[in-house]
Amino acid sequence: MSERRSLRVELGARSYDIVIGTRLLAEAGGLIAPVVRQKRTIIVTDENVAKLHLDTLRTGLDQGGIAHQTIVLPPGEHTKDFPHFGKLAEDILALGIERGTPLIALGGGVIGDLTGFTAATLLRGIDYVQIPTTLLAQVDSSVGGKTAIDSQHGKNLVGAFHQPVLVLADIDTLATLPRRELLAGYAEVVKYGLIRDRQFYEWLESAGPKLVAGDADARREAVLKSCAAKAAVVAVDERETGERQLLNFGHTFGHALEAETGFGDALLHGEAVALGMRLAFDLSAELGLCPKDAPARVRRHYAAVGLPIELSQIANAKGFKPEDLLRHMGKDKKVRDGRITLILARDIGDAFISRDVERDRLLAFLAAETGAKPRIGALARD
Ligand SMILES: NC(=O)c1ccc[n+]([C@@H]2O[C@H](COP(=O)([O-])OP(=O)(O)OC[C@H]3O[C@@H](n4cnc5c(N)ncnc54)[C@H](O)[C@@H]3O)[C@@H](O)[C@H]2O)c1
Repeated sequence: MSERRSLRVELGARSYDIVIGTRLLAEAGGLIAPVVRQKRTIIVTDENVAKLHLDTLRTGLDQGGIAHQTIVLPPGEHTKDFPHFGKLAEDILALGIERGTPLIALGGGVIGDLTGFTAATLLRGIDYVQIPTTLLAQVDSSVGGKTAIDSQHGKNLVGAFHQPVLVLADIDTLATLPRRELLAGYAEVVKYGLIRDRQFYEWLESAGPKLVAGDADARREAVLKSCAAKAAVVAVDERETGERQLLNFGHTFGHALEAETGFGDALLHGEAVALGMRLAFDLSAELGLCPKDAPARVRRHYAAVGLPIELSQIANAKGFKPEDLLRHMGKDKKVRDGRITLILARDIGDAFISRDVERDRLLAFLAAETGAKPRIGALARD
């Protein structure tokens, strides 16, 4: 039986707990009751998650004496757009809410971001509880209070910092997650090791394959470590002016790949981050900033768990143009004063922020990468 663990995100009056373990949906009522002002909630979820986990949550809320209504949205990134946000806000208002009525986000990062943003704006800010059901949402998007929807000008461009009042990361929900989605979330777990925690990375090198295969203890441990790492960074830099930028490791390269592939099924966000982190290690080694064996070690771990390594593994990749990738990198939110902010590495577990890489050097690196030959088979698919 997997034990239950709890962590606190220290943000003064906005501090909150992250509970990690099994059977949390079934006991949600008792866990939520102490942190909400009204014993009534509105659950926001998507169709996939509703089929699999909504009944368990409803029963758990009933048992804790919390009344609930539910809004079910279509799954997928396109649900994070203005029309869905507008309709969700109107539907919630139609149900009649007060400042003390909390929302519950039951789902992956899409539901978490959209529900969080809606909570940030309704009545100028109401409470919400995150119940993340993807590995990516459990280790990343549900913690830290970044909420957003997408604009036609780009992803996550309209948003707010709005912290949840509680996060319940129920490891049981990961059992129904498609393998490809699980791996995409695993990339964010690897990120915490690669940026700041070599020991954790070494643990992942041995535990990663069994975690991916379904080992509940390994999953709980990885979610706990990842949330602790994110909580520590958020506590010192809530609004991403310094340290929190390290969490964007792999994201500037990754964002360019996502933009080129249309932010769709061809390349999931976590897969893009995995590729981006591998690129950042290779670039760091080429620039003489980190030992040559570090990128090789990253590749070995990716191969062991099934993460993509080469750009040529992206489904339907018709060949990327280095200039196009660089243009997208230049549009990333992380550009400051026209210089691309890159997160590079001195070694495994030692990432740092750099604005020193010249445009031409980056272009040459991308040119070599986009001509790269596949080294392992196609992306893992269900
Ligand atoms: N706010 C942040 O700090 C932050 C950080 C990283 C990513 N994000 C955002 O997160 C989003 C991606 O999140 P995601 O990867 O969780 O995607 P997602 O929410 O689209 O979920 C992926 C798919 O898995 C399904 N699903 C969810 N839980 C399931 C379960 N337990 N069993 C079976 N299927 C399940 C969903 O219906 C969906 O089809 C992006 O919009 C990204 O911008 C936000």
